Amino acid sequence: KPLVVAIDGPSGSGKSSISREAARRLRAAYLDTGAMYRAVTLYCMEAGIDLEDAAAVEAAARAADIELSTSPDAEFVRVSGRDVTDAIREPIVSSSVSAVATTLGARAELVRRQQQLIKDSGLRIVAEGRDITTVVAPLAEVRILLTASEEARLRRRGVQLGGTQSAAQLKEQVITRDAKDSTVVNFQQAADGVVTIDSSDLDFEETVQAVLDVVYA
Ligand code: CDP
Repeated sequence: KPLVVAIDGPSGSGKSSISREAARRLRAAYLDTGAMYRAVTLYCMEAGIDLEDAAAVEAAARAADIELSTSPDAEFVRVSGRDVTDAIREPIVSSSVSAVATTLGARAELVRRQQQLIKDSGLRIVAEGRDITTVVAPLAEVRILLTASEEARLRRRGVQLGGTQSAAQLKEQVITRDAKDSTVVNFQQAADGVVTIDSSDLDFEETVQAVLDVVYA
């Protein structure tokens, strides 16, 4: 029977690593929707598209040839056939991605593609992002908001980036980006029927277990 697990949360909440591991244990597919926003952002930057030009960004979201792995064991993203798995994580992409995320026409196109990928999984998938529980898969069997304190989120993102970033850069990548994203999607509060997991005081394994507990509840 279908098992769509929708997980939303802010930057640094651990969504991606937790969702990928939950998908492995559930023998489900895994969808990182943020990677699609990042891929469109990179596509625009490389094509010289003005990220402030909503019509151009929407057209880019429609035109971009994006291939995203939905295997939790094989992470890759390709744009126009080229591997951009690492390139989409560069700070320049992180600091520009909100421009794509706040372009409603681009969102509509990416939501369509995400819903198709969920169907293609045979409805056995863990999908994570900012609007999965509310827009992409509001009818998912399991809907979770994964939160963490600002302190925990800054610390995790710092570790993830190898401790090379200044405090100001980290704040820009976590707090400022979430503030921009919040203008178009509400991922700070759980919608009706969404279970909140606060991972501030949980380690990785405890958080994965908390997610699986909700799945098997
Ligand atoms: O770096 P982090 O894990 O916080 O973000 P991500 O999951 O890689 O997503 C990158 C960006 O894509 C976010 O900052 C949002 O601007 C956008 N996004 C979105 O708007 N809606 C989603 N469902 C997923 C990501």
